[in-house]
Amino acid sequence: MRVPKIGRRIRRAGLLVALAALLAACGNENGQNSLDPKGPYAQKIDNLFIPILILAIVIGIAVLSATVFFALKFRHREGGPDNPKQIHGSTPLEIGWTIVPALILAVVAVPTIATIFDLAKKPTGPNVLQVTVSGKQWWWQFELPKQPMVDKKVVTSTELHIPINTKVYLSEVSDNVIHSFWVPELNGKKDVVPGRTNHNTIEADKPGTFLGACAEFCGLSHADMRFRVIAETKVDWQKWLAGQQQGPAQDWSGHIKELTATKYACTNCHILNDSTKVNYGPNLTHLHSRTTFAGGTYEINRKNLTNWVMNAPAMIAMASKDCRLPPPATCVGMPSFTKNTPKGQPVMTKEDADTIVTYLLGEK
Ligand code: CUA
Repeated sequence: MRVPKIGRRIRRAGLLVALAALLAACGNENGQNSLDPKGPYAQKIDNLFIPILILAIVIGIAVLSATVFFALKFRHREGGPDNPKQIHGSTPLEIGWTIVPALILAVVAVPTIATIFDLAKKPTGPNVLQVTVSGKQWWWQFELPKQPMVDKKVVTSTELHIPINTKVYLSEVSDNVIHSFWVPELNGKKDVVPGRTNHNTIEADKPGTFLGACAEFCGLSHADMRFRVIAETKVDWQKWLAGQQQGPAQDWSGHIKELTATKYACTNCHILNDSTKVNYGPNLTHLHSRTTFAGGTYEINRKNLTNWVMNAPAMIAMASKDCRLPPPATCVGMPSFTKNTPKGQPVMTKEDADTIVTYLLGEK
């Protein structure tokens, strides 16, 4: 088919854009590059991956070259025979192409299995941070239970702070569907499966922010189920922990309590004043200490939070239309407080939203 000139140009431009996007995605500093390990666990995977990649490239080139070579050598020639001379049952060939791949696979298997066991080893000792990771629809909850490094339990979401040069042993659970926890620069993926506790260990060498994502399709907003791991020096991490262990920045009483516990019943799903507790939705006691919300999709600021509080389903795909109807129907996510309001329930005013956001931002 002949493509008209203008069509070809558009096609070429499209190809260029796609190529640029592909290359940008491979960029070194996107915070999510599994080829750029930032800790010992990701390094172990890289140490396995690179030699096997080289081996695979050598084999790939050899096979492709042989294919092209034989295709040319035995191509159909004018006046020649339709088929080259047929051979069948060459014992040396048969043995050769059985043994060589078996040997290659055996060579690859040894370091692969060793690495799998190495990564799965449970780290021990007082210098290990235990974190329970819960996959939710669609956000991540992080619980730091009381342990040698944590004198009072802390619950947070979307952003996990960890001290550098410390093994962080994750216990991963889900009370809904299957998710997959992945911070490419710190370790490989681990599925988070309902009814099971899976484990994974991450560790960062240097301070930095490492992007993570859910790597298993888990519903409408799977693509918006991101998170950050923020690695800090021990001193900075302890400061963060002490901050999280405090009560809310503003007293949760009087008007704000009336709005959030009674009028709009935010507390049906959220905890607003105690960072040790979990509920259906994210613990919001120290929301203002984070940089993003809604599965890491939106930056935390007054405008975004106000829009969210009033009409969250307009910002992320959610099946939450009936979430304000008791008893909680089959709903996932946060209901709108300005649209589809059930009979007898209040529509949220801008003024009330402002008051709630002021509380969430830790302002007085
Ligand atoms: Cu959770 Cu995809």
